[in-house]
Amino acid sequence: MEELSPSKSDWTEVRGSEVHGRGMFAVKDIPEGEHIIEYLGERIDKEESDRRGNALYDVSQETGGAQVYLFTLDESWDLDGNFEWNTARLVNHSCESNCEAQIDDELRIWLTAVRDIKCDEELSFNYGFGIDDYEKHPCLCGSRKCVGYIVTEECWPELRRIIKKKKAKEERKAAKEKARKRKKEEKRKKKFS
Ligand SMILES: C[S@@+](CC[C@H](N)C(=O)[O-])C[C@H]1O[C@@H](n2cnc3c(N)ncnc32)[C@H](O)[C@@H]1O
Ligand SMILES: [Zn+2]
Repeated sequence: MEELSPSKSDWTEVRGSEVHGRGMFAVKDIPEGEHIIEYLGERIDKEESDRRGNALYDVSQETGGAQVYLFTLDESWDLDGNFEWNTARLVNHSCESNCEAQIDDELRIWLTAVRDIKCDEELSFNYGFGIDDYEKHPCLCGSRKCVGYIVTEECWPELRRIIKKKKAKEERKAAKEKARKRKKEEKRKKKFS
């Protein structure tokens, strides 16, 4: 893949983020609907996309994490944005995002404002990750709506159910452990009384 010049936008600049590493910030007020920056990358067919996705999955199994920048464009094509010159890849995820990725008629991806954005606000969009392996992607977006993990909004009800069930199981386990310790302590007291 040839090296392209980094994607630029008059609306944004890259800065350190409180959410994670580097992020993208508005340098002026951005109106709703604005195409802020293009998400650049290599257009690849589904077979190549599966190959790259599987390779990243293998890396994540070995290292516990891997950055995924694969976007679905249509039934035939995906876009791999894993290139230094794709500055838009630095936009972090949020559960209450101010941007979304819109695909135009030419299959170009634009990070687009879904509401008016104030100067100095960090830009974000929902990464749209599936629910499998959700625990590998804890979310630190800090929004009031945060569901705790980077997961597509469609899966939030299922995620909430899973988290609730898991919490109830942990609470039962903790209560059992507490009861076991109390019994042990009572036995010990009886022995020495
Ligand atoms: C595409 S990069 C975004 C740029 C990244 N901040 C950096 O400095 O390279 C995606 C990675 O950023 C991190 N990230 C993005 N949004 C996040 C969030 N809301 N909470 C926690 N980590 C996040 C995750 O590690 C994710 O795999
Ligand atoms: Zn979140």
